[in-house]
Amino acid sequence: MTSAVVQLHDVSVRLGPVEALKRVNLVIQPGERVALVGSNGSGKSTLLRTVHGLLHPAQGHVERHPVLRQAMLFQRPHLLRMSALHNVALGLWLDRTQGLGWAQAKALAITALQRVGLSAVAHQGGRQLSGGQQQRLAMARAWGRQPDVLLLDEPTASLDPHAKREVEALMADFANGLDRALTLIWASHNLGQVKRLATRVVYLEGGRVLADLPVADFFDAAKLSDHSPAAHAFVQGELS
Ligand SMILES: Nc1ncnc2c1ncn2[C@@H]1O[C@H](COP(=O)(O)OP(=O)(O)O)[C@@H](O)[C@H]1O
Ligand SMILES: [Mg+2]
Repeated sequence: MTSAVVQLHDVSVRLGPVEALKRVNLVIQPGERVALVGSNGSGKSTLLRTVHGLLHPAQGHVERHPVLRQAMLFQRPHLLRMSALHNVALGLWLDRTQGLGWAQAKALAITALQRVGLSAVAHQGGRQLSGGQQQRLAMARAWGRQPDVLLLDEPTASLDPHAKREVEALMADFANGLDRALTLIWASHNLGQVKRLATRVVYLEGGRVLADLPVADFFDAAKLSDHSPAAHAFVQGELS
């Protein structure tokens, strides 16, 4: 029996000819806020999909907590050609783990839209919303599933600065347990955001974890260069 949210034991994942993760070991505890950083193609999305069970290891194994509930947000939300409210309600209704009837799913969707500040646009077409609103809609859908673990793949990458701040504020809200203590695991290209939100930073390069440190140590240049020259070079490159 494990109390960890998720444990990766020596996990390698192949995507066609590419070994996208190489012998990754990772143990994540409840309440951690783990940022995954690294250049494009370093394996962040693959790691998130593996944690969520969408990809399966070619080697090693993944152990998930037997009870905790996970939800995942992608870089661009998948929305259907229907109202914002129905997009959320349908997602909740289709999630059979909750076993909601349509009326219950709709009621929960209304609360979820309030939670992310989208009540005013509930009856507008989901696909007509701005990028930031669409991402908040996806967060409403995730929130409605009442997850213990929220996985997000570069949730603010395609947003303008204002929308970025709104989505980031929601992530902080969710993570701070205004609702309930949540474990956050997210890929980010934004080191400022990582500094503000993360408790722990995992640096990937070529599918390998080259650094895994508490956030304060990751942003301590001396400690980081000692621990991983590659991660140090990456951070310097991002900041310059
Ligand atoms: N569907 C796919 N088929 C083959 N290779 C892929 C596929 N998706 C990603 N890859 C490769 O896997 C590696 C890791 O990609 P990814 O996890 O998407 O990295 P990141 O999210 O850090 O940008 C990269 O080399 C990428 O080119
Ligand atoms: Mg990615």
